[in-house]
Amino acid sequence: MTDLPAHPEHAFTDELRAEALALVTQLRETLDQAVGHVDERPALCPDPDSVLDALEEPLPDAGVGARAALERLIDLQARAGANTAGPRCFHFVIGGNTPAAHGADLIATAFDVITYTWVVSPVGVRMETQALQWLKSLLGIPQSMQGVMVTGATMANFVGMACARQWWGEQQGFDVSASGLSGRPQMPVLTSGYVHAATRKVLSLLGIGRDHIREFRADARGRLDLEAFESALDALDGAPALVIINAGEVNAGDFDPVAAMMDAARRHNCWVHVDGAFGLFAAVSPRTAHLVAGMERADSITVDGHKWLNVPYDSGYAFVRDHGLMARAFRYSADYLPAEDDPRPTPGAIGPESSRRGRSFAVWATLKAYGRDGHRRLVEHCLDVAQHFAGLVDTHPELERMAEVPLNIVAFRFNPGGLDDARLDALNAALGEAMIADGTFLLGTSRLGPRTVFRPAFSNWRTRFEDVEALTETLVRMGRALL
Ligand SMILES: Cc1ncc(COP(=O)(O)O)c(C=O)c1O
Repeated sequence: MTDLPAHPEHAFTDELRAEALALVTQLRETLDQAVGHVDERPALCPDPDSVLDALEEPLPDAGVGARAALERLIDLQARAGANTAGPRCFHFVIGGNTPAAHGADLIATAFDVITYTWVVSPVGVRMETQALQWLKSLLGIPQSMQGVMVTGATMANFVGMACARQWWGEQQGFDVSASGLSGRPQMPVLTSGYVHAATRKVLSLLGIGRDHIREFRADARGRLDLEAFESALDALDGAPALVIINAGEVNAGDFDPVAAMMDAARRHNCWVHVDGAFGLFAAVSPRTAHLVAGMERADSITVDGHKWLNVPYDSGYAFVRDHGLMARAFRYSADYLPAEDDPRPTPGAIGPESSRRGRSFAVWATLKAYGRDGHRRLVEHCLDVAQHFAGLVDTHPELERMAEVPLNIVAFRFNPGGLDDARLDALNAALGEAMIADGTFLLGTSRLGPRTVFRPAFSNWRTRFEDVEALTETLVRMGRALL
C-alpha cells in the first residue's frame, strides 16, 4: 500500500483564517462611521478624481494583506465616496436604508447568502417568497402574481418584457426563448413619452430594439395622447402587442393615466406592463393611491426596493401574472440542477440571474420591523418633504416651480428675473454643475419638455425639512454668484 502524501504547508490559508477573524474588529469602527455619521457627511466629496487617480497602479505581485487593503479602501471611501444613504441626495431617485434593512443586508453579506435555489439557502429562498408576498400586500399587487427579486427596476422591466415577448411569440405559435426572433415580425410596443431610459435598454437587450417603440405624446413633456394611443390599438386589428404604462416618471413624478390606458389595452390583445419603479409606492398612502389605481390589472409590474422601500442597493422586484411564462422565458436546466418540475422554489430559474445574493434579507427585515404602518409613514414623510420644498420654491422670488407635485419630485428652476428661457436654461445647467462641484447636496438637472430644470426626488427617510430649507438657501446663493 502506498503512503498518502504528507499534508502540504498551509501557511497562506492559515493566514487568511487569522485575517478573517481579525476582520470583525477592524470593521467595527468602519461600521460606526458608516452608520453613525450618515446625517453629517456631505453628499459628495470635492474633486474625488484627484484622490481616485491613485487607484491606477499595476496588479501587485505580493499583496498587502487584508488589513492594509481594507484600510486603504476605507480611506478612499472617506475622502472620495458619495454619501448616497445620506439625507441630502436628491438626484436620480435614491433611497436611504432603514436600520433593519441595513442590518439585514450586512448579515446577508456576512453569511455570503446565495439564493439560487432552496438547497443552498433555505432561509433566503423562503424569505424571498414571504417578503414578496408582503410587498404585494403593501403595494396592492394581486397575491396571485408571482414575484422574483432582481438587481433593480431595469432588470425587473427585463423580466416583465421577456415574459411579454414569450407571450407574444406563443400567441403566434412559436417559442421565442427557444428559437429566437430571427425572421419573425416585430412586436408592437406602445407607450407614452414618459417611458424611462431603462425600458429602451431592455428592449435592446431583448432583441426588440430600443428605437422600436411608439410613444404617443400629447405635449413636449411626453404626456399620453390617449386618443392617438387608442387609434393605434384599433389599427392593430387584434395583433398581439406590448403596452407599457409609466407609473411615475422621473422629471416631475407624473403618471400615465393608468386606468384609462389599462381599459384601452384590455379591449385589445395586449400584454400590459407597468413600470412603477418608485411610483408604485403611491399605493402605500391613501393620499396618493389614486395615482396607481388600475395597475392591479397588469400582466407584469416593476417595483424598485433601493428607491422608496429604503433597502440597500441593489434590490428590485418583478411581478408577473402568468407563472408559467416566467419559467418558459427563463428556463435553466441541466442534470446537476434542480429538476424543472421540483415544486420547491428555485428563484434562479424564473428570472435572469442564476446565482443571486440574499436580497430578501433586507426586504423581509424592513417589512417585519416597521410593517405596513411604518412604510406608509416613511412614504408620507417624503410626500411632506416634497410639499414643504414646493412651498419654499413657490414663496421664493428667485425660484420658479415648473410642474405640479403629484408625488415626491419637485421640478423647478432658478429664475432671478430678466432672462429669457435660453439664458435660463444655460444658467440652470451651470448651476447644476456648480452644485455637484460644491457637493453639499447631490442635485442635478434634467429637461422638462424643452426647459432645463432641477428635479429633486425625495425618497429617503433621513431627509428633514431643514435639509430642503438649506438646499433652497445654497442654491439661491450659488445661483446669484453665477450671474
Ligand atoms: C421609472 C423607472 N424605471 C426604471 C428605472 C431604472 O431603475 P434601476 O436603476 O433600479 O435599474 C428607474 C430609475 O430611476 C425609474 O425611475
